[in-house]
Amino acid sequence: MGYVVFGLEDRPALPVRFGARSLMVHHIAVAAPFRRIGVGAALLAEVQLRAKALKVTSIATSYAPFNTASQALFASIGLEPINVFAERRI
Ligand SMILES: CC(C)(COP(=O)(O)OP(=O)(O)OC[C@H]1O[C@@H](n2cnc3c(N)ncnc32)[C@H](O)[C@@H]1OP(=O)(O)O)[C@@H](O)C(=O)NCCC(=O)NCCS
Repeated sequence: MGYVVFGLEDRPALPVRFGARSLMVHHIAVAAPFRRIGVGAALLAEVQLRAKALKVTSIATSYAPFNTASQALFASIGLEPINVFAERRI
């Protein structure tokens, strides 16, 4: 029906920045026949419970700019874009 893959990322403190422990959602997917019935939201509800138990300072993910479904799903739990990754293929 669906799955979510996530991991913990510990960023050590440096003289120029604070340390941080982030829960990174690497991938989430719901099989097409089961979309828009709350499965993705349920998976992210569990992710948030785990994040609280693991005492992380943030939950993060990345998605392609055209992936409006993913953007809307993550926005629904408060994730906002904070960075832009740019590249030119050669
Ligand atoms: C992104 C994805 C996981 C969403 O899963 P889902 O089970 O359909 O999501 P939900 O039904 O729980 O939706 C929760 C909320 O997310 C938003 N949302 C989800 N799909 C959306 C879509 N296609 N368009 C706009 N908003 C969407 C809505 O706010 C929705 O709440 P609502 O239904 O009350 O409006 C699913 O579309 C998917 O598997 N896509 C392909 C894989 C992918 O792109 N994964 C992300 C990159 S890692």
